[in-house]
Amino acid sequence: MRITPSVLNADLADLAGEVARIPSADAVHIDVMDNHFVPNLTLGLPVVASLKKHTKLPFDIHLMIDHADRWAPQYAEAGCESVTFHAEATDAPVRLAREIHQLGAAASLALRPATPIEPFADLIAEFDQILIMTVEPGFGGQKFLDIMLPKIRRTRAIAAAAGVETAIQVDGGVSVETIGRCAEAGADVFVAGTAVFRATDPDAMVDQLREIAGAAHNH
Ligand code: DX5
Ligand code: ZN
Repeated sequence: MRITPSVLNADLADLAGEVARIPSADAVHIDVMDNHFVPNLTLGLPVVASLKKHTKLPFDIHLMIDHADRWAPQYAEAGCESVTFHAEATDAPVRLAREIHQLGAAASLALRPATPIEPFADLIAEFDQILIMTVEPGFGGQKFLDIMLPKIRRTRAIAAAAGVETAIQVDGGVSVETIGRCAEAGADVFVAGTAVFRATDPDAMVDQLREIAGAAHNH
């Protein structure tokens, strides 16, 4: 069970300080938005590269941008440990995953709520992780979509049938209330933005979320 807090709703003017508040996190989830793929704009490669010098935590990059084929490899080149691109933003997911791997990073495929996993079933071994969005991407603080739980289950079944260890990450509305349902459905990597950074002790919240997920998973 891995917890990857999102800094989207943290103090973006003090990213180094915010990341220092979550030493127990398994990675820091960084949401890159371009105001085209989603109706919001956050930060890009120069900010990510600068932040890299301020922390030892691995970077879990979530690209919510068009032209993923052009941009994703550059994040791998910058030393980001995991690069997630959206299925809807690439024409060649296999080629892109292999390029990211060649550059030494883990490759992860994200699906919007309306994008099914089934068309990607035969591709699953190409990915270290599948990110299942549990809100419409673009903003933090939205309500968790319970209707995505069956997709998590189907993705877990597809990975099991393929005999691969592909991780399943959920992103959007993950909190102490919802994380158990995600873990029970088969997710094992959890993004939490507001749940972590609005907590009085963000690092304690990371541990608490991991504990709840672990208990639900073992059920
Ligand atoms: C939303 C982003 C998420 C967001 C999650 O498009 O991909 O990573 O920061 O925030 P919460 O946990 O508040 O839903
Ligand atoms: Zn995200």
